[in-house]
Parts: sequence; C-alpha cells; structure tokens
Amino acid sequence: MSSKSIIDRRRGPKIDVVTGLTKDDDVLVVGLIAPGTDDDRPDARPTLLLSDDLLDDAAADALDEALAALDASGKKGQTVTLPAPAGLPVRLVVAVGLGSVAESQDAENIREAAGNALRGLDGAGTVVSTLSVADLTAAAQGSYLGAYRFDEYRSTPPAKAAPAAVSLVVPQKTKQVKAELEQAVIIADAVALARDFVNTPPNDLYPGEFADRARAVGSAAGLTVEILDEKALEKGGYGGILGVGQGSSRPPRLVRLTYAPSSARSKVALVGKGVTFDTGGISIKPAAGMDHMTSDMGGAAAVIAATVAAARLHLDVAVTATVPMAENMPSDTAQRPGDVLRQYGGTTVEVLNTDAEGRLILADAIVRACEDAPDYLIDTATLTGAQMVALGTRTPGVLGTDEFRDRVARISQEVGERGWPMPMPSELRSDLDSRVADLANVTNHRWGGMLSATLFLREFVADGVGWAHVDVAGPAFNAGGPWGYTQKGGTGVPVRTLIAVLSDIAAAG
Ligand code: BES
Ligand code: MN
Ligand code: ZN
Repeated sequence: MSSKSIIDRRRGPKIDVVTGLTKDDDVLVVGLIAPGTDDDRPDARPTLLLSDDLLDDAAADALDEALAALDASGKKGQTVTLPAPAGLPVRLVVAVGLGSVAESQDAENIREAAGNALRGLDGAGTVVSTLSVADLTAAAQGSYLGAYRFDEYRSTPPAKAAPAAVSLVVPQKTKQVKAELEQAVIIADAVALARDFVNTPPNDLYPGEFADRARAVGSAAGLTVEILDEKALEKGGYGGILGVGQGSSRPPRLVRLTYAPSSARSKVALVGKGVTFDTGGISIKPAAGMDHMTSDMGGAAAVIAATVAAARLHLDVAVTATVPMAENMPSDTAQRPGDVLRQYGGTTVEVLNTDAEGRLILADAIVRACEDAPDYLIDTATLTGAQMVALGTRTPGVLGTDEFRDRVARISQEVGERGWPMPMPSELRSDLDSRVADLANVTNHRWGGMLSATLFLREFVADGVGWAHVDVAGPAFNAGGPWGYTQKGGTGVPVRTLIAVLSDIAAAG
C-alpha cells in the first residue's frame, strides 16, 4: 500500500440509515432477545428486535416460527442463519442473540453482535440490520469493523468480498440520527486505519515509510506535520530513538502531528510507540512467535489514527501526537547491553537489555511532548509481555497519575476496550538504579514488569501534567481466532479509548 492508497482505501462498508426494507436488500440481520430467566412463562419465546412496521404481522410471525423451529434462543453470541420466510423481501435472515433485555442494552454487546453477523456475510449484497434499534453508534461501528478485511497482499482478491453496504434501521431519518451515524463511522474508520498500519508487514512498513504514510493521512485531515529524520534527531539529541534505531539500515524518525482548533481550551499530548519491528536487538528474542512483533508499532498507529479522528470530528481540544519510529535490529552497528545513551533532555540511561527498547524511544518523545506544556499526556505502547501475564491478551493496563489514570480506564471500559487501572508501586523504582548512569532500562528481576516499565517512563513526564500510560502489548494484535468485530491481526485498540478521552476533555476540560 502506498501513501496514496492508505488515504483512498475503503476500509469498511458504506453505512446508511433506513426506515424500511427494499427489494434491493439481500440479508436481514435481526437482533433476538432471550426471555428472562425469571420469566414465569416456561414456553416464552425470544423477542425479535424490530422497529414498528418494519415487518407486517404475517412476516413477523413466519420469522418467529422459523426461528423457533431452529431453536434460536436469543442467547448472547448465538448466530442463526436461515433462508428468509415468505413475505420478506430479502434472501437470508441472520438472527443474532443479544442475551437478556438488560444485556441487549449494552453497547459493546451490540457492537460484537453486529461484528459477528458481518464477519460471516462475505459474498452478500446489501445488509439491513435492526441492531441500530438498540444502539445506532454500536451497530454502525460493529458492522463497519466486522466487515473490515486486509487483503492487500493476496495476489488474487477473495472470491467473496465483505458486504459493501449496510443499511441500519432507525425510526426516523432525522438530522440528529445522521450526525450520530457520521461520527460513529469516523471513529470506526480510525480504528480501521490503525489496523491497516499494524497489518502492513514490517518489510514494507519501516520508519521512513511509516512516517511518510503518517504525513499523508495527517495532511489529508488538515493536520500540521513535522518529521525529524536521523540527521535532525542527531542534531536535537534524541539519544533514545537513535540508540534503538542504530542497528537497522532503515533509520529512525520522529513524527509530530498537530490539530489545533482556535476554540480549544485544553491541550493534549499523545505519544505512541512506533517500533516497526522488534527483534529484541542484541538481546535477541526467541524465534517462536517473533512475527507478533510486527505489531510493535500499534501504539503509534493508534495515536496517529486518533489525531486524524479528532480533526475529522472537529473536537474542541488541541492535540499533538509525538510518534517515535525505529526498527530494533541486531547488527554490528546495534547498541550493546551495557551501552549508556543520553535521552532527549539529558537523562543518561544504561541499556542493560536491548529488548526493553520501547521505553527508550518513548522517553525522548515524552520529554519532547512535555515541552509544549500540555494539560494531559497519554502514551500508549505495546510495551511489555508482562501486560499479558497480568491481564491477558484483551485487557489493556492503564497506569499514570491517579486521577487521570482512573478517568482513562473508566472511559476505556465505557467504549468497550476494557482498559484496567494498575498501580506503580514506589518500591520498584530503586530497582531501576544504574551502576553508572542516571537510570537503567530494566530491573534485575521479572516481577511487575508492566509496572516498572511505567516507573521508567514516569521519570520523563513533566510535573503537573495529567498522565496516563496504556500498555496494549496483547490487545493491539489478535494472535488468536476472530471474535465479535475483531479479525485476526491488528485490532485498532486503543483508538476508541483515545478518541473518547479527547471528546471527554473537549466537553469537560
Ligand atoms: N515489544 C515488546 C513487548 C511485547 C511482548 C509486545 C509481547 C507484544 C507481545 C517489548 O519491547 C519487550 O520486548 N519487552 C520486554 C521487556 C523486558 C526485556 C524487560 C518483555 O516484555 O519481555
Ligand atoms: Mn523489545
Ligand atoms: Zn518492543
């Protein structure tokens, strides 16, 4: 993919709102709500999620009966596909279980149900979905992301493509409804953009190319773009980014993207780890699973996409993304365990393990970001395997200054990205003391690896800045099977958290 196609590529279906079915529709996705467990009617049937008058009584009854014959229960996660009963203008019906009435009101449940439906509909024409009757934003985002595919590297396109159009049923096509849909799709497209970056293989996405593509998407969104190349990094004293990048023939970059609306009252700095491939360097990683390290720029992808979205949503907040990009390779020019580097701003660091490289490039970027005197700073990174040991593959760790950390974690849970607050135990700090330099980049033990990595970063965050660090080592990349609206590969986490925090700051300060 070139810089041009990362802008022009359609990353999801065209999504529209409708009030009824038409003859051109191919598949009806309909929500199914399970009868309550406390229901005193033992033969109670699940309820179809429909808008008034979407189906006439005869068609609704026929569908109800067909679903009963197939034992469709409305259980959460259940998907039942059937040929449309007579009287419906579509070819297929997909009934997606939403669980109980209460569960059917949970946005993330709707998003996952929409995703499950769209993941299974390759080859279908226009899809109409009633999930929007429960939650328009969630139905739009789940459908868009469920239909996301990354086929750029297949020599022949798949015989059956994901649906190109999704119609979401709403009671009325008001201005408000259309505005809600537009915002939902901008956010989903930002998630898909981050997925595109992560899914692009590391031979094609190296620091120089990543910077060029960031420039392309940033300029297209009206952002101010600044790129420091290796010479500018040298001149500026960015020792962390240079140290990590020096083992690769493909030199590092620092990208800065700024969105600064004149009406903004608050300023937010975003920082994202952009290691385009992490071999570990001289402290080389084992071969098994090393391909996962193609996702080591997931934090960078997320902050670039979130900044683009802030502009497209016209959020009332100033945002600057500071994005360090480097490839961590072993070679005769690579940094050695035992080297001492000088971070941007002057702090010296003894590099005891070249595989703890993320914190080195982030430290430079954080110091640079703080020079702009932001009110808040959020950094996000695929920083530690310890994140996955602590929280599993789907739950980001959120650390930082207490109040802002809790705000970011709460918002992350609200948008369905599940970020969970974690502490920074102060007794771990002295384990980062170095024999020769101001700091060492690792502790000499493996306990609390996500927490000590954050304590390292804390040394570089300016006083008074509300700070959150989001570790997405596992959540940025789905190495398992597809689920909900998440395919294999790049997930786009934590883009929705970042955008929602920016919106929250725009609204509340
Ligand atoms: N990029 C890795 C962290 C990672 C591991 C991300 C697995 C996604 C999946 C990071 O640079 C790293 O290598 N961290 C080391 C730190 C250690 C040397 C202190 C780790 O977690 O093992
Ligand atoms: Mn590493
Ligand atoms: Zn890494």
